[in-house]
Amino acid sequence: MKTLLQINSSMKGESSQSSKLANDLSDRILSHLSDIKHIKRDLSKDEIPHLDEETFQSFQDDLTDIASGVNDKLTISNDLIEELESADILIITAPMYNFMLPSTLKSWIDFVVRAGRTFQFTEAGPESLLSNKDTYIIMTQGGMSLGTSDDFMTPYLKQILGLIGLHNIQFVYVQGLAMGDDIANKNIEAAYDEIVTFQV
Ligand SMILES: Cc1cc2nc3c(=O)[nH]c(=O)nc-3n(C[C@H](O)[C@H](O)[C@H](O)COP(=O)(O)O)c2cc1C
Repeated sequence: MKTLLQINSSMKGESSQSSKLANDLSDRILSHLSDIKHIKRDLSKDEIPHLDEETFQSFQDDLTDIASGVNDKLTISNDLIEELESADILIITAPMYNFMLPSTLKSWIDFVVRAGRTFQFTEAGPESLLSNKDTYIIMTQGGMSLGTSDDFMTPYLKQILGLIGLHNIQFVYVQGLAMGDDIANKNIEAAYDEIVTFQV
């Protein structure tokens, strides 16, 4: 059985454009593969805490005497990593907030990118520890930064996901959502049309 992990991160939850597109893509994948488990995480509802020093320390040490609050955060990290390890297909939504990812998604990254679990340091540099997954990123934005020096998100996501072993990434961009209905609707429609062409 395959596992599809869907991570939604828009503050608008299910009504957001990126979530709707991610739902459309998941429905398509689920209808093509008969034996598949779907795990869906809405980071706007089920927020992951910020990474703090004690938690980061507990990632590195085998501590038996850690404060219970920290232990809870360590458990969150372990659970998120197990969920990610179990996934064959990954969908992440990434609306642009202030030129970057939602902080909720950054927290998810901070809890799953862990030395010794999802990557390791070696003399030759960092080595990823996750198996490659078909990864889809639905990136939405009010303006149009794709292909310009204002697009910090694409290189960042490639870099950080590549560090843990996710190299097979298909980006779906929906730009111009704040540039009037005509542009927004045209670009939303184009994204749905693009999703239909994916070999899932
Ligand atoms: C707090 C905030 C900051 C935003 N910053 C940007 C930005 O820097 N650049 C941009 O093009 N759009 C920006 N937007 C617009 C969002 O990218 C857009 O509303 C979102 O991608 C729509 O997707 P969604 O419906 O899935 O939330 C911002 C929106 C919010 C709420």
